[in-house]
Amino acid sequence: MSDHIKTELKDRVLYITFNRPDKKNALTHAMYATIVAAMKNADDDDDVRAIMFTGAGDAFTSGNDLADFRDTPPLGEDAPVQQFLQCLLTAKKPLVMAVNGIAVGVGLTMLLHADIVYASEAAVLQAPFVDLALVPEAGSSLLLPARIGHARAAEMFMLGKRVGAEEAYGMGLVSRVLKAEELVPAATKAAQALAKKAPKALMHTKALMRGDTSVVAKRMVEEGKLFSAQLTSPEVMEAIMAFMQKREPNFG
Ligand code: COA
Repeated sequence: MSDHIKTELKDRVLYITFNRPDKKNALTHAMYATIVAAMKNADDDDDVRAIMFTGAGDAFTSGNDLADFRDTPPLGEDAPVQQFLQCLLTAKKPLVMAVNGIAVGVGLTMLLHADIVYASEAAVLQAPFVDLALVPEAGSSLLLPARIGHARAAEMFMLGKRVGAEEAYGMGLVSRVLKAEELVPAATKAAQALAKKAPKALMHTKALMRGDTSVVAKRMVEEGKLFSAQLTSPEVMEAIMAFMQKREPNFG
């Protein structure tokens, strides 16, 4: 259990809060493992009807902890991050996201697996995988171009372009944009409304909307192989060292 994840079950909604604000809610192995346990329980528990994610402080999440990437690279299907991605892919219950600030890396790609995505005006979405000498994950190399088109996805993946809340709304990445103070109340209201719906109809609807997830699952395996190979490469080490040393990377 990680103290950096807060979970609360209330009125049939499981609330999961990334709670490491001093590190912009960067996700460690322990945090992923805690989320995975909570999500698996939720999927097996008829009394949980919806899951809502948000971030403490001013960030949603800055993505995977870069020190973890450097020190204990998550290689293989058993890695907590891989299990988390599987949970997102296979989640039976609707996922509501309250994106309160920056959503980087997996902070963005997890949104592609969500159902209701509310963003505060302060939200910024970024997928700087190539900037880190990595490749997209979570099936996002398939899901993001499918959602927003190849040309816009290429700007995000290849150039690491940051996308603000209104632009994200225009691209269909978020359902609504709200004032900061209205975000969590609105997302909570949506999650509570979902919790009162006919549960089987809701789960069937989610599954139908997702369609054949085996295609995404297959892509996740392909991404995972390339991601793992890159993680132990000199170019990733340079990218992470550059971030830690607050300088531009030099890829030669
Ligand atoms: N992993 C580890 N530490 C992280 C982190 C991450 N993904 N994101 C932020 N932090 C840490 C910073 O190192 C800093 O720590 P320090 O106070 O000990 O120096 C602290 O969180 C605050 O971050 P800072 O960069 O000062 O905040 P900012 O508002 O200027 O920028 C971000 C926020 C998220 C844009 C920036 O931190 C960033 O780009 N982080 C890396 C994101 C990333 O590449 N994630 C992986 C994607 S696969």
